[in-house]
Amino acid sequence: MSSTTAEPAEHAERRHFPPDPAFAEQANGTADLVEAAAADHEGFWAEQARTRLTWAKDFDQVLDWSEAPFARWFVGGELNVAVNCVDRHVDAGNGDRVAIHFEGEGGDTRTLTYADLQREVAKAANALASLGVAKGDRVAIYLPMIPEAAISMLACARLGAPHSVVFGGFSSDALKARIADAEAKVVITSDGQFRRGKAAPLKPAVDAAVSGETTVEKVLVVRRTEADVDWHEGRDVWWHDVVDSASDQHEAQPVDSEHPLFILYTSGTTGKPKGILHTSGGYLTQVAYTNAVVHDLHPETDVYWCTADVGWVTGHSYIVYGPLANGATQVMYEGTPDTPHQGRWWEIVQKYGVTILYTAPTAIRTCMKWGDDIPARFDLSSLRVLGSVGEPINPEAWLWYRRVIGGDKAPIVDTWWQTETGGIMISPLPGLTDLEPGSAQKPIPGISAEILDDEGQPLHDPEKVGYLVLTKPWPAMLRGIWGDPERYKETYWSRFGPEYYFAGDGAKYDADGNIWLLGRVDDVMNVSGHRLSTAEIESALVSHPSVAEAAVVGATDETTGQAVCAFVILRGGAEDRGDETVQELRNHVAKEIGPIAKPRQIMVVAELPKTRSGKIMRRLLRDVAENREVGDVTTLADSTVMDLIKTGMSGSS
Ligand code: WTA
Repeated sequence: MSSTTAEPAEHAERRHFPPDPAFAEQANGTADLVEAAAADHEGFWAEQARTRLTWAKDFDQVLDWSEAPFARWFVGGELNVAVNCVDRHVDAGNGDRVAIHFEGEGGDTRTLTYADLQREVAKAANALASLGVAKGDRVAIYLPMIPEAAISMLACARLGAPHSVVFGGFSSDALKARIADAEAKVVITSDGQFRRGKAAPLKPAVDAAVSGETTVEKVLVVRRTEADVDWHEGRDVWWHDVVDSASDQHEAQPVDSEHPLFILYTSGTTGKPKGILHTSGGYLTQVAYTNAVVHDLHPETDVYWCTADVGWVTGHSYIVYGPLANGATQVMYEGTPDTPHQGRWWEIVQKYGVTILYTAPTAIRTCMKWGDDIPARFDLSSLRVLGSVGEPINPEAWLWYRRVIGGDKAPIVDTWWQTETGGIMISPLPGLTDLEPGSAQKPIPGISAEILDDEGQPLHDPEKVGYLVLTKPWPAMLRGIWGDPERYKETYWSRFGPEYYFAGDGAKYDADGNIWLLGRVDDVMNVSGHRLSTAEIESALVSHPSVAEAAVVGATDETTGQAVCAFVILRGGAEDRGDETVQELRNHVAKEIGPIAKPRQIMVVAELPKTRSGKIMRRLLRDVAENREVGDVTTLADSTVMDLIKTGMSGSS
């Protein structure tokens, strides 16, 4: 089908975009690669590991799956992740290549070459060691998007000290819980961050998180905003005091391929976030490989930019580890897309000549709303690959992204993966795939997926909706949930038996065999590409003295994908202060979890719909939140409850 003729929007999802031959000619993802992976799964990954990484000691077994679902990849191999991401590029003569073009929100900039990065990481590693951090110790990182975030992560990797990065938008309570679960010894933070033109504090959240009984011995503080901070002598240390004065020579020790690299907390179906554990050799192999073949990165010529925050897995895999392992030149931006104006991102693309842009559908939809004329003011002709991640991208947003940002020619890679998968799993290859807007299409070479029905039988009929599963272990797979092996087995390897990794996403095939991801099938919401659990927000709500009971659902939202909608039953007394209480509760959730979890809407109700066994029927609440006719109520213990909710709700949001 032709990709150049304009077609009516309603046919949008039927348009295909074949690869441009000139692009295909230079692409890293080739038909040979697909063939090699299909012919020999383990041999293929061994080849990726050996050609893309530098090992201090070669591995003697590719995969040990004998203790499934606990995998070991590249068994017996040894490497240092930071050396792979930094030093070896300098050793190869690329020390002068820019690693990071940092752009502060206020317009301040910093350029770090690979040689600069090597010195900074070595200094930070020496400083952390002097603060008592040794191999195996956990370090919490609570930083904004500044180069020190990447430097800190790499310094930890250099020492073999697993990091736990906590998104700067999380509250002190959320930080405290994550520090406690990982038993972190050191926290790295900053005085604050620039956000929407203002300096916002960060350190006070750390002070609160480490007050009382804590495993934290030292707090290392980067100066960013120059705001005044409370200082705890003996515990707090300035980055510029200990890092800047440290030696820039540091001897890195290789670690075992399975040595823990990081823990990253993500929301699950219960109130307690899961500490997803990733290790070294397999993880780095897959993120380097996918960044090369999916983003089609050519480190000598590309300028790559991933707009994620390092607090999320996308930032770990596609800002820090993948691109740096490949020796990429990348942009790192501190602020929001509309500060000081709505063209800020496009101004950055123009300024640095960005060639590969990786972002989220929610951002694309927001830019779409702001209008075509804003990106039109900038020269975006350098862009040659566009990526999308975090949630399904609707065909309209896909087409807009290609036309307005990609100059009607840049291929879009819609990449499906998860914190747990560590790296990209399902995606088109930009030089090979006939692109289909809205679908993530096929598992990439080396990855195998299926869609199962309720009984666990493979579904191949187009349009029938089932559950996405992964059928073979992959190198960047999570190695477990920190401190909770049972929960790991139960969450991912029991729904359809130990053969199948259960992803928690609904999916279907279309007539061309392309996979369409249809959102979560569990109680996890996806708000602006951020994973939030209904249970976590419910428990935050009921922790407030005014709330007797709460139920949370994710309702479809035009911009953010889903939005948090809460239904609460108030305790006697609080009801009289309806609006005021609702405001108080929204702020309470922001304080308990973080502003991203703040409900868009809180509806005060007299009852919640429950089954006879007492389970809340969220499906019905979702109907209410999305202003739909309420579905089948026959399994409710009391079928009049829904009438009560619908009539009692007016004006309470
Ligand atoms: C969703 C983010 C459709 C999905 C990397 C998954 C997607 C969850 C896509 C993981 C995509 C991510 N199409 N859905 N291209 N990418 N998702 O752990 O529901 O923050 O399970 O990892 O996001 O979110 P997480």
